[in-house]
Amino acid sequence: MTAVPESTDGVLVDRYGRVARDLRVSLTDKCNLRCTYCMPAEGLPWLAGPQLLGDEEIVRLVRVAVERLGVTEVRFTGGEPLIRPGLLGIVAAVAALRPRPRISLTTNGLGLERLAPALRTAGLDRVNVSLDTLDRDRFAALTRRDRHADVLAGLAGAARAGLTPVKINSVLMRGVNDDEAPALLRYALTHGYELRFIEQMPLDAQHGWDRSTMVTAAEILAALKQEFPLTADPTERGAAPAETWLVGDGPARVGVIASVTRPFCGDCDRTRLTADGQVRACLFATEESDLRGALRAGADDAELARRWRTAMWGKRAGHGIDDPTFLQPVRPMSAIGG
Ligand code: GTP
Ligand code: 5AD
Ligand code: SF4
Repeated sequence: MTAVPESTDGVLVDRYGRVARDLRVSLTDKCNLRCTYCMPAEGLPWLAGPQLLGDEEIVRLVRVAVERLGVTEVRFTGGEPLIRPGLLGIVAAVAALRPRPRISLTTNGLGLERLAPALRTAGLDRVNVSLDTLDRDRFAALTRRDRHADVLAGLAGAARAGLTPVKINSVLMRGVNDDEAPALLRYALTHGYELRFIEQMPLDAQHGWDRSTMVTAAEILAALKQEFPLTADPTERGAAPAETWLVGDGPARVGVIASVTRPFCGDCDRTRLTADGQVRACLFATEESDLRGALRAGADDAELARRWRTAMWGKRAGHGIDDPTFLQPVRPMSAIGG
């Protein structure tokens, strides 16, 4: 790989000129649900304790990203980040960094009702909660856990605590919940949540993804338009994965994250850190860059920043799902976090 030009000192730029300012940090690969489209019923071989970054190691790497690499947004993900014991302390330490990054969290919502006020106090700005169905039995079948009520309570608790805008992520699967798009939107509108549908991506641990059965953005929009007038959202999209529509004249919106049928890699501003300290330049990266080893071998901040810049310089132009040579990454979505 060619060396990172000296002139890029300071930011995470790649060969295509994209600058990564949005850092997603996976705090654990474990999850307390078992969504069928994500992992098998028995779970996965989880990372062992010593492999995981400690709380201080995480904060140190986030500090390097914020102070030296121009990161302005930090999102905590999992597995399920709410099950990480040190979460509140990590959020508080990141909120104390200067310049203070915006801080968000992607969660399945279990335990969120109880934790939301403390997370808000620690400095969390907002949450994205996964919810694929409004039906309790479907939820139990889909996630293999009877916890639907906890997710709904988590959403309400997040809104009450001011973790707003509360966003909902929904993945539709054919023959499972693809009849629920309008109902999910109605629910979100009623409660003041911002709903986004995500096209399913080939990131499941079981390698069961099938392009031909995937529910597409076009289908989701067609279903929504049967019941809701949607108009193009004039707001600048920037690097956001979601393309948004105003419902009626707004201000309520609905989004679709069309990762497969309308990739947005050309505007990508994301860099990822796994729970075991590996930088991933892309969700679909097949290579990772080991910061944990460097950190534990005594690397200083400047060296960690240099390694991170080198990792991002090598980011590929796009995910290549449509290429005949496409290879699904070894690390599944559950260990990257979205
Ligand atoms: P906000 O709108 O700022 O809250 O961010 P977001 O939409 O990125 O939120 P979130 O992290 O919840 O991402 C939603 C989903 O979009 C993820 O779970 C992924 O499925 C998908 N996604 C996020 N980032 C990327 C990306 O860089 N590439 C692809 N292909 N999909 C992504
Ligand atoms: N494709 C798209 N989205 C996925 N998610 C999990 N696996 C996939 C996949 N293969 C979603 C979850 C959650 C978010 C973190 O990513 O439903 O909302
Ligand atoms: Fe960015 Fe990779 Fe996602 Fe494309 S697939 S938007 S390059 S993280």
